[in-house]
Amino acid sequence: MNITIIGYGNMGSGLAARAVKAGHAVTLAGHNPARASEAAAKVGAKAGAISDSTGNADIIILATPYPAAAEALAAAGNLAGKVLIDISNPLKADFSGLTLGFSTSAAEEIQKLAPSAKVIKAFNTVFAQIFSEGPDFGAAGKVPVLIAGDDEAAKQSVQQFAESLGFSTIQAGNLANARYLEPLGMLNIALGYGLGQGTGIAPTWIHRD
Ligand SMILES: NC(=O)c1ccc[n+]([C@@H]2O[C@H](COP(=O)([O-])OP(=O)(O)OC[C@H]3O[C@@H](n4cnc5c(N)ncnc54)[C@H](OP(=O)(O)O)[C@@H]3O)[C@@H](O)[C@H]2O)c1
Repeated sequence: MNITIIGYGNMGSGLAARAVKAGHAVTLAGHNPARASEAAAKVGAKAGAISDSTGNADIIILATPYPAAAEALAAAGNLAGKVLIDISNPLKADFSGLTLGFSTSAAEEIQKLAPSAKVIKAFNTVFAQIFSEGPDFGAAGKVPVLIAGDDEAAKQSVQQFAESLGFSTIQAGNLANARYLEPLGMLNIALGYGLGQGTGIAPTWIHRD
């Protein structure tokens, strides 16, 4: 697949490295061209300006902090019909909680910013370190990517992409369910950092046989 990632930080670079290894054609795009080139060279991806990088993409991943989404999407321009993955947890500046929830979510706000795109919530419960350390937790299973969105074909495409990176997947319903996935991402952060469990953890569901 042609994958464009906007943002070359911990998540953008981690996703890019894993996607390159899985054989995808990856473009890392960002607002600082020099930093985008440097990050892309490290993982074997192409670098590009945000405005030039979305046209051919099968999947676009927005990997900026949530408060930067509006600016990044404005730079991206026309995203009509594009699959746009929102990975964000809309954190307060001091990481003590979320800035929105209950009646909306970052994913739904991003859908409003890019109304013609097919926004999918995914990867927000996956710590960046898992991209480099690997999503196979042995006997505990594979780290799941929880997927929520309103377009069935887009959700299937994101499932195929996540599984190609070595993750398992859980289809988690409509985009409005991002209202539950974002607090789950927050709990993961609270357990990992605040409560000392570290970043080698991920939320999942168990099923009775
Ligand atoms: N880190 C995790 O383990 C983790 C886990 C799950 C979800 N997430 C979510 O993933 C997203 C990225 O997190 P991260 O840890 O990768 O953050 P990060 O390391 O700080 O990287 C953020 C990236 O966004 C870019 N950026 C900032 N403002 C921008 C703008 N206006 N336009 C375009 N690009 C902009 C930054 O570029 P510059 O540095 O050049 O400004 C940088 O490349 C966040 O929404 C976070 O909630 C993170």
